[in-house]
Amino acid sequence: MRILFASSEARSLIKTGGLADVSADLPTALSELGHEVRLVLPAYLDSKAKHAWKKLGTLALPPPFPPVEVLEGILPDSQVSVWLIDAPLYFDRAGNPYLSPDGHEWPDNHLRFGLFGQAIADLALGGAPTHWRPDILHCNDWQTGLAPALLSDRPHRPGCVFTIHNLAYQGLFPRSAFDELELPHHLWNPEALEFYGQLSFIKGGIAFADRLTTVSPTYAREILTPEQGGGLEGLLAKRANVLTGILNGIDTHLWDPRHDRFIAHLYDPTDRAAKAVNTSALRTALGLENIASLPLLAHIGRLVEQKGIDLILTALEPLLAAGRAQAVILGSGEKRFEQGLEKLAMRYPRMIATRIGYDEALAHRIEASADAFLMPSRFEPCGLNQMYSLRYGTVPIVRRTGGLADTVIDASPEALLEGKANGFVFDEISSAALSVAIERALDAWHKPDLWAALVAAGSACECDWRTRAREYVELYRRML
Ligand code: ADP
Ligand code: GLC
Repeated sequence: MRILFASSEARSLIKTGGLADVSADLPTALSELGHEVRLVLPAYLDSKAKHAWKKLGTLALPPPFPPVEVLEGILPDSQVSVWLIDAPLYFDRAGNPYLSPDGHEWPDNHLRFGLFGQAIADLALGGAPTHWRPDILHCNDWQTGLAPALLSDRPHRPGCVFTIHNLAYQGLFPRSAFDELELPHHLWNPEALEFYGQLSFIKGGIAFADRLTTVSPTYAREILTPEQGGGLEGLLAKRANVLTGILNGIDTHLWDPRHDRFIAHLYDPTDRAAKAVNTSALRTALGLENIASLPLLAHIGRLVEQKGIDLILTALEPLLAAGRAQAVILGSGEKRFEQGLEKLAMRYPRMIATRIGYDEALAHRIEASADAFLMPSRFEPCGLNQMYSLRYGTVPIVRRTGGLADTVIDASPEALLEGKANGFVFDEISSAALSVAIERALDAWHKPDLWAALVAAGSACECDWRTRAREYVELYRRML
């Protein structure tokens, strides 16, 4: 099959979160299964600088857009061909793909991703300059949402899949953006791109794609409810017959404690003593007191409301104060959370290390060192770090939501008896509920046999992309 995969991020070129991991790993897995895949992204300044690109030719776009150049290259460490949409006026900006250096969204994001959507739609029809006609167009998140809408009335278009990675980001703009984009008039109605008087990019994908997917079976059910549907639950319910949840995988080569190039000491996840060598090295490197008799708790992620970082701050303080656990946290995001973390680190410098920023190598070292990983997310479409944790013998403590509910099995007596338990799961969104789960984990950490059983079940997790990519292939096949 020929698959055109469209995304605004892909690891090795540009990354703000898990979308970038999926957009690198799924196309790679599809191509390893023998399919012909092209990955299309905007030509951000940083992505252009990371690689050698060949000019393929010019793509003429309808007004209000200028013609754009299509650049061709290979996604690093893969066989996947990449096309970059080079529109310097829109994408020649360094740093975060969505935000200006002051942390606000770029004021012309509707034009930037409007142009991207139009370019995807044109490439999907297979004309110049690519002369390559896909069987399937696979779009991801709001940044690609206009493409399915623009293709909807084209007679010879490919089958179109739209994947929702996070319904909290919808690409909403004022009505004037619709006019500025010179979009076809029939798309301005509540069945199409209009969302309570605003222009919604994500509705383009949800209303017009032939098939919808999201990144875990539980999230696929949750987004049909008013609590998690972000106002789109009605439309999603209408389309529920074409909506499925396919769990994300992880790159099991990149995330393998036996071969990880970033960590101090390679280890088998079931070998607790070998893992402890990394724990000790990290404590020293980050300036923590090296207390082997205390468990090390960790968190890595975007510091936003979704991730429940406020719950972590509240639950950790008494543990640090009483000298019952140590912690390491890596992330960046909202100032209030960054400041909260820095304050805690100043108060308990020997007990908690916090690093504000994005640091891939440190993320690996933390997974290889921590005893338990905290993910008290308010919602989590899939989540990747709980799966890295399972592979690294780092026991996840998670809230029962989205992909966390689908990958982490609570250490209940029954699950332990069946050898399935691999972590700790709680329900209520509160620091008290998180604290109870952490207490259960601390208790288990002091019981070597119990801990070993959790780690063994976790490290056996089958979370590679090969299996998951087959589910997408099955879905594509049913559409042809
Ligand atoms: P989301 O996409 O909502 O941010 P995921 O769990 O799906 O959440 O993916 C987050 C990805 O980004 C993971 O690969 C995680 O390791 C990585 N990540 C997030 N923040 C950081 C950071 N500060 N440093 C290094 N890696 C990070
Ligand atoms: C989103 C979600 C996250 C998911 C990722 C990749 O950013 O927040 O849960 O794992 O996309 O699908």
